[in-house]
Amino acid sequence: VRNPGLVSHKGFLLIKGLHDPDAVDMIRNLEIKESDVLVVTYPKSGTIWMQQILLLLEAKGDLTAISKHVKFSNAELVPWIEVKTEKFIKAPSPRMTVSHLPFSLLPSALSQKKGKVIYVARNPKDVLVSYFHFHKVGNMLETPTDFDDFFEKFMRGDVFASSWFEHIKAWYLHKDDINMLFLTYEEMVKDLHSAVERIALFLGSALTDEQLADVVKHATFNNMKKNPQANYERVPGRLLSHHQGTFLRKGTIGDWKNHFTVAQNERFDDTFHREMADIPLDFIWD
Ligand code: PPS
Repeated sequence: VRNPGLVSHKGFLLIKGLHDPDAVDMIRNLEIKESDVLVVTYPKSGTIWMQQILLLLEAKGDLTAISKHVKFSNAELVPWIEVKTEKFIKAPSPRMTVSHLPFSLLPSALSQKKGKVIYVARNPKDVLVSYFHFHKVGNMLETPTDFDDFFEKFMRGDVFASSWFEHIKAWYLHKDDINMLFLTYEEMVKDLHSAVERIALFLGSALTDEQLADVVKHATFNNMKKNPQANYERVPGRLLSHHQGTFLRKGTIGDWKNHFTVAQNERFDDTFHREMADIPLDFIWD
């Protein structure tokens, strides 16, 4: 039985009540400006981290300059295009947005190398674990019975954003058709400074070394965890059950080892090798 909180739209699972399939359909034909920046992720792969980094780069590391414009969270300034499509359309340049949509649903103008796309990928075992915990927090997502139950749903792609494998494969195969920077969550964890430098270079942001250091400082896990606009603690309780957990949960590589059984790990590896046979991507797993 499919999760009743999800709705399939052109083969991709959206969240009922949060995503409007008609609005999502408009996105494909949107005009894209050279200055537009789209961060694309499968859920739990670094989305809110990138929201913080993009805003900090634009503000040249000045955190207070961002706080002035935010009531609840960074999502007001860097919205999900599939949730706040109108907001993105009307935003002043440079328009910045995040998205979990598959390649087939995002603006086709991207394939004319318009705009800039940053795809952030995370090793899918840690994605699964992070997503499991988030299902207890996100009120629009069905709370799993237990980890085994969620493991099965993830492997079947019966979760919002469907299959992790389909998501990354389609984006990866089109990476040379679009203006794309491909980053991994793991490289950001291991060397945030270098990752921020690569992002700044890709976006053409001119920052001094000191400004770059400020961006990095305000984008660390510990500092984001303390920062209400970056950690989503002010997002209304209607959407997030804050007593059930936090958006910034652990921020590490390899937490899957504390969750997967040996059998689940073997099954995961089999599926990974089969699905990713033609995709030359190496992940850092621990
Ligand atoms: S969502 O719901 O898809 O938007 O979630 P997303 O923001 O993509 O992913 C949440 C996970 O990213 C971790 N995170 C960070 N890790 C390290 N450093 C920083 N600064 C950081 N910011 C967010 C967050 O903790 C979630 O991962 P887990 O493993 O659950 O901790």
